[in-house]
Amino acid sequence: MNNFNFYSPTFFVFGKERENEAGKYVKRFGGTNVLIHFGGGSVVKSGLLDRVKASLTAENIRFTELGGVQPNPRSGLVYEGIGISKREKIDFILAVGGGSVIDSAKAIAIGALYDGDFWDFYTGKNIEKALPVATILTISAAGSEGSTGSVITHENGMLKRAANGDALRPVFSVLNPELTCTLPNYQTACGATDMMAHVMERYFTNTKDVEITDRLCEGVLLTIIKETPKALADSSDYESRANIMWAGMVAHNDICGVGRDQDWSSHNMEHELSGLYDVAHGAGLAVMFPAWMKYVMHHDIQRFAQFAVRVWGCEMDFQNPENTARQGIEKMEQFFASIGMPVRFSELGAKAEDIPTLVKTMGLGKNTLGSFVKLTEEDVRKIYELAV
Ligand code: NZQ
Ligand code: ZN
Repeated sequence: MNNFNFYSPTFFVFGKERENEAGKYVKRFGGTNVLIHFGGGSVVKSGLLDRVKASLTAENIRFTELGGVQPNPRSGLVYEGIGISKREKIDFILAVGGGSVIDSAKAIAIGALYDGDFWDFYTGKNIEKALPVATILTISAAGSEGSTGSVITHENGMLKRAANGDALRPVFSVLNPELTCTLPNYQTACGATDMMAHVMERYFTNTKDVEITDRLCEGVLLTIIKETPKALADSSDYESRANIMWAGMVAHNDICGVGRDQDWSSHNMEHELSGLYDVAHGAGLAVMFPAWMKYVMHHDIQRFAQFAVRVWGCEMDFQNPENTARQGIEKMEQFFASIGMPVRFSELGAKAEDIPTLVKTMGLGKNTLGSFVKLTEEDVRKIYELAV
């Protein structure tokens, strides 16, 4: 196991109706003048926004509202939010929504304390400080409610890029599984796929002797595989929603990834797809992850066979572990298809003729991508071709 630091100070408020306590926690974490940030309207329609505002008012907390975050959140609204925050002397950002809203809130939180362009932090600058961000989560997926990350698409070139830093961990996150019951099945399935991808980016590692995190990863994957079909069959099934919601947090706050090298090339390849076609992140991952696996499996066939046996219940073929490894990947693809995810470019609306553009926009040049296998531009091109 590698040396590691792990600092995960988010306070979680989990369970039914807990959003009504938002005001109390904003106060506890020092917010006095809040920017409430939300998306395209689901939180207005469900009445959640009104409940959150009422809980702030009950604590005499001032607030300003900024809605309109779209999936694959854009730089334009971030600039607007930074402007409002500086002008109104906002001291706390409350994100009410999914990963896109939370990531946009995090970007505003960085930019509000910075004189330059917030985009600097999405092109490599170290994040030292940000306004405190809290979240009221409405979709189990990105894990941004507990993560150090934020992913924004810059409208100049539609570049989708990530920033990471401990200052971006939310100070508190309200996780009420009931809030996810209004999700369309497609979004629930995209979320489940994204969570699985977060675990698998960590699972396929070259670090030896990482039994504890291997087993945590497997447990989270088994949970998502078991609970997602239940939530899809009955959208009001609280218990499956609750298990999925906590799985999404555990999948990405890095408790499953500490002490081991992590890969993240499938995520990077997917970000190019959602940058170009504006597809849902989880759907793009359902297409890219199996292609990546098929391309790199020979690097460590035993790890892929272990994944097949422990996660997908395949029988170990000791004579030919490659058979087992392939079966695991097949079962994963079947699972994605069974929950309504695309597994090929065409199902996603992506086109083979755009592959040179996808590779070029990634801008890898002579560098490599990922860590399990260090991919060159040529490898990336071949993986996109495998996904066609
Ligand atoms: O905008 P509204 O009207 O709220 O609709 C949203 C949106 O259309 C809808 N929705 C959310 N909660 C709902 C609901 N509809 C009905 N009922 C509810 N309770 O769902 C749609 C998708 O929302 P979005 O926030 O985009 O989904 P998700 O949480 O999957 O976030 C995706 C974004 O997160 C990034 C992705 O790249 C993508 O941009 N990621 C962020 C990460 C991080 N910060 O750590 C890591 C991830 O790997 C990921 O890259
Ligand atoms: Zn993701």
